[in-house]
Amino acid sequence: MKLADDLYYVGAHDPGLKFFDVIVPTERGTTYNAYLIRGEKTALIETVHDDFSDQLFDNIRRICPIEDIDYVICDHTEPDHSGSLGKLLDIAPDVTVYGSAPAIKNLKNILNRDFRSVIAKNGLVLDLGGYTLKFLSAPNLHWPDSVFTWCEELKTVFTCDFLGCHYCAETVDVDITDDKAYLEELERYYTYIFGPFPQAVQKGVSIIRELAPETVCTSHGPVLRAKVKSTADLYEAWADRMISGLDPHKISIFYVSAYGYTKAMAQALAEGASSAGTKADIYEITGTDKAVLAEAVRTSAAYMFGSPTLNRDALPPVWDVLGMVSPITDRNKPALMFGSFGWSGEACGNMADRARGIGLKVDEELVKICFAPTEDDLAQLREKGRSFASWIM
Ligand SMILES: Cc1cc2nc3c(=O)[nH]c(=O)nc-3n(C[C@H](O)[C@H](O)[C@H](O)COP(=O)(O)O)c2cc1C
Ligand SMILES: [Fe+2]
Ligand SMILES: [Fe+2]
Repeated sequence: MKLADDLYYVGAHDPGLKFFDVIVPTERGTTYNAYLIRGEKTALIETVHDDFSDQLFDNIRRICPIEDIDYVICDHTEPDHSGSLGKLLDIAPDVTVYGSAPAIKNLKNILNRDFRSVIAKNGLVLDLGGYTLKFLSAPNLHWPDSVFTWCEELKTVFTCDFLGCHYCAETVDVDITDDKAYLEELERYYTYIFGPFPQAVQKGVSIIRELAPETVCTSHGPVLRAKVKSTADLYEAWADRMISGLDPHKISIFYVSAYGYTKAMAQALAEGASSAGTKADIYEITGTDKAVLAEAVRTSAAYMFGSPTLNRDALPPVWDVLGMVSPITDRNKPALMFGSFGWSGEACGNMADRARGIGLKVDEELVKICFAPTEDDLAQLREKGRSFASWIM
């Protein structure tokens, strides 16, 4: 399908996809976008998921033999975009692959074969004869390998996942009419894929604004034309919200409790932390909406996790909340483990192991109480809450 003079969409449609990367729901399917640009030389920008290689090859053959491709530009090497490259090299072994240094390294380990390559350093220009492709490094959007590819003559930038969306319409060259559904998917895509990298997103948005493209060719969902500015603005707002949302004086206390003993501990710890001047919000995990929990995780400067020990472990709801902590954006936040137990008391130690594994700064003192806390215990817990709060004051 022709998008502009000498620029063709040759990607694949996957309308039935239910989940992407195991956990991202894709209610409206997805597309794996790839583009062919023909000057005197021919470049293919991105390939597709291996399962859809035939669609890619059929689409290319409608325009030219696959053997005519001189260059493959790999803006990002995740296999939803690099998946067909091995089969393409079988057909056209002399193509030269352009990608960032980490991209070429990744491809060596993805393809496990030799191929011709050029490292697409920031600012490098590839002259196709009639069209130029300029590579702009855009690391961590969303892998260390990512670059944008800019075609000045077509005022078009290829951004791979950046500004993309799992949304499979009849064609990618469409002004979305079903705005609400599209925006829902756009935000979901942003949250899962780019949520952990707000600073990189801000840089990406400023590159896009500087280029002032007429067209953004992403690797998932519709090509952006009229929506370039509004989509970049949304990305910026979401990144800003992430960066500015942190409350440096807020501790979130997440707990579950079968008989109320761990709950009493949570309350005493919160009283102590509050008396030190921090905000200490308590969340009983099973009765709290997941979105509220996730927001508390994101905006808190420190955490406490409480669980009784049942059958030698903490209870699953606590693992759910620990799973919301980002080892990237929540890294190094202080965390304290507490809980009531009967005879063996493994919950706190197991929660601490997990918390350390995701990069939290765990208080070495595990706050464990055998069955019901006494008045003395509660006083000590208040003291502990106060001293823990001093970490973030
Ligand atoms: C089904 C069940 C299994 C338990 N298994 C353990 C265990 O393996 N080790 C332990 O130290 N306590 C165990 N306990 C005891 C609880 O940790 C103890 O009752 C605790 O005080 C409960 O605190 P809560 O009121 O905050 O739920 C178990 C309790 C229940 C009900
Ligand atoms: Fe990706
Ligand atoms: Fe992707």
